[in-house]
Amino acid sequence: MTNATAAALISRSNRLGADPKNTNYAGGNTSAKGTETDPVTGEEIQLLWVKGSGGDLGTLSEPGLAVLRLDRMRDLTNVYPGVDREDEMVAALDYTLHGKGGAAPSIDTPMHGLVDAAHVDHLHPDAGIAIATAADGEALTGTIFGDRVVWVPWRRPGFQLGLDIAAIKDANPQAIGCILGGHGITAWGDTSSVCEANSLWIIDTATAYIAEHSSPEPFGAELTGFGALSEADRRAKAAALAPTLRGLVSTDSTKVGHFTDAPEVLDFLSRSEHPRLAALGTSCPDHFLRTKVKPLLLDLPAEASVEDSIARLQELHEAYRADYQAYYDRNRAADSPAIRGADPLIVLIPGVGMFSYGANKQTARVAGEFYLNAINVMRGAEGLSSYAPIDEAEKFKIEYWALEEAKLQRMPTPKPLATRVALVTGAASGIGKAIATRLAAEGACVVIADLDLATAQAAAAEIGNQDVAIGVQANVTVEAEVQASVDAAVLAFGGLDLVVNNAGLSLSKSLLETTVADWDLQHNVMAKGSFLVSRAAAKVLIEQKLGGDIIYISSKNSVFAGPNNIAYSATKADQAHQVRLLAAELGEYGVKVNGINPDGVVRGSGIFAGGWGAKRAAVYGVAEDDLGTYYAQRTLLKREVLPENVANAVFVLCTSDLSHTTGLHIPVDAGVAAAFLR
Ligand SMILES: NC(=O)c1ccc[n+]([C@@H]2O[C@H](COP(=O)([O-])OP(=O)(O)OC[C@H]3O[C@@H](n4cnc5c(N)ncnc54)[C@H](O)[C@@H]3O)[C@@H](O)[C@H]2O)c1
Ligand SMILES: [Zn+2]
Repeated sequence: MTNATAAALISRSNRLGADPKNTNYAGGNTSAKGTETDPVTGEEIQLLWVKGSGGDLGTLSEPGLAVLRLDRMRDLTNVYPGVDREDEMVAALDYTLHGKGGAAPSIDTPMHGLVDAAHVDHLHPDAGIAIATAADGEALTGTIFGDRVVWVPWRRPGFQLGLDIAAIKDANPQAIGCILGGHGITAWGDTSSVCEANSLWIIDTATAYIAEHSSPEPFGAELTGFGALSEADRRAKAAALAPTLRGLVSTDSTKVGHFTDAPEVLDFLSRSEHPRLAALGTSCPDHFLRTKVKPLLLDLPAEASVEDSIARLQELHEAYRADYQAYYDRNRAADSPAIRGADPLIVLIPGVGMFSYGANKQTARVAGEFYLNAINVMRGAEGLSSYAPIDEAEKFKIEYWALEEAKLQRMPTPKPLATRVALVTGAASGIGKAIATRLAAEGACVVIADLDLATAQAAAAEIGNQDVAIGVQANVTVEAEVQASVDAAVLAFGGLDLVVNNAGLSLSKSLLETTVADWDLQHNVMAKGSFLVSRAAAKVLIEQKLGGDIIYISSKNSVFAGPNNIAYSATKADQAHQVRLLAAELGEYGVKVNGINPDGVVRGSGIFAGGWGAKRAAVYGVAEDDLGTYYAQRTLLKREVLPENVANAVFVLCTSDLSHTTGLHIPVDAGVAAAFLR
């Protein structure tokens, strides 16, 4: 059962973390000190519960807490070797854990343990960081909070900062907390509710002071030509720039992207001071670990053409890389970890918005959220004074901190399709849904395109949250809807890598029964639809310069000839030849084009449920329910083919194991000799 002190800590943390004004995502930590009976001695002991490394306050639960013996944690001061070796204290914390210790203690644990208060909150509120990064932050702290809140000059988080804050609290018994220069706030209290109230008082007082005393235009006057484009134009330009941008920022490692045109971003980019401020970079340690020290800023007005913007972004990207390499070389120490890539993670486009990048969608999205935090911080600091983030050498020490490096090394190996973005047509049902599910399970971000928006979204929601899968409406026979679905993929995840032409339907009719409308429908959805999707997607793949895969779900019927199938099988044969034609054409861009020939996938298939199954069953003289088994008996392997079997083949085609294969068709039919490829 959860200790009552720990339970109160969790609910306080969840309340604080639920409001973005209080702290950034996964930023900050909270703690409580209390007692429990030692199972070994039966005696009462003092424990420290503190949010562990990683994790978010808003969703903190018991396993996210580190549990330490308070007396032993504090005994570490006796062996503390001084600030030059403070990092060694992190490993020493392991010897102060209680029981199994819970989550790994974070770097801020000493601050929580050493401060002599039963409850401590350390938070990264935008309003607090605004004061913390104002050039005259110390004076402002006095003006705003009197002696209730004390200024602590910037110091990298760690054991020494914990000692400093503990000493400050001892020397200032009237104080309820402090502003940590360049960083954030810490508050304390004798009870959980007093601590929470103190945190909120500091945040609300800072917010109110900024609102009341800020200069009217903290980011300067509006720049002519840098105002926001209309929403439609913003999205169109963002979608047009995204593929090239993703290719650029993936120079060192492939990344997933996130786009936002939040009003704060558009306002920042429309004002005269934005180039100076963007160059100053972010300040809170949490921020620039996610955003890199500074963003890449396009220095062209909103109306600049896509072509001019791309040309300029290419130049700026090269300059950014050189600049970042120089920053690394200037600051590196003998034992610094190797450079982690020189590409920007934040790209700002005036009039349009912001792209942010990461190794997966969640990381990319959070990087964007953090730059939004940084914009709020800069607005607050500039409104009262001027924005003065910590200097470059300190930023470097945090970015290339051995402890951060160790955290990165501990990250699980990425899944095989991590950083890949997939678009699967007709994926709200049957084979397409199984493909989308499998690709997502292997780490890809997935866009489900289907006729009905609600159904597509429902299928996406079954796979995961919007960082994993989204649903979009697209009738693949309509050029504009196909383009819109590709744009949606690019705006949701930064680009596109894997395209699966799966949308289809099937009419089983003899030649004499087949109407022109039947013929057109089959050919429009499958032959023309695949052409439209491949064309729109290939443009993205070519611009990204990251290769990619286009996969056609063709059919056994593309090679096998039987009765009552003229329209369906002819268009399947068309799709099959598109595979070969596009493999020949797109090879020079590193794009592989392959096909899958399934057969007899009855279970889960809307095609079979929608009448085709009944007709086929009638043709073969079996009950509709037995159709799967009937098909299985016709096969060489005597096995029923399931949607998952087709999905497996798509996955394998997308992996590096088939990196040298293009123009191939893989039968997934349990063996049908009449459909052997030769
Ligand atoms: N089931 C089989 O045995 C089998 C065998 C060989 C090939 N295939 C092919 O596999 C693909 C998927 O078939 P399934 O069995 O999963 O069928 P399904 O009916 O379960 O799924 C097809 C999906 O495509 C969508 N769709 C139809 N027309 C569309 C359009 N114009 N635009 C966008 N989406 C559209 C449908 O809404 C549906 O969600 C088809 O191309 C089919 O020809 C199926
Ligand atoms: Zn912090």
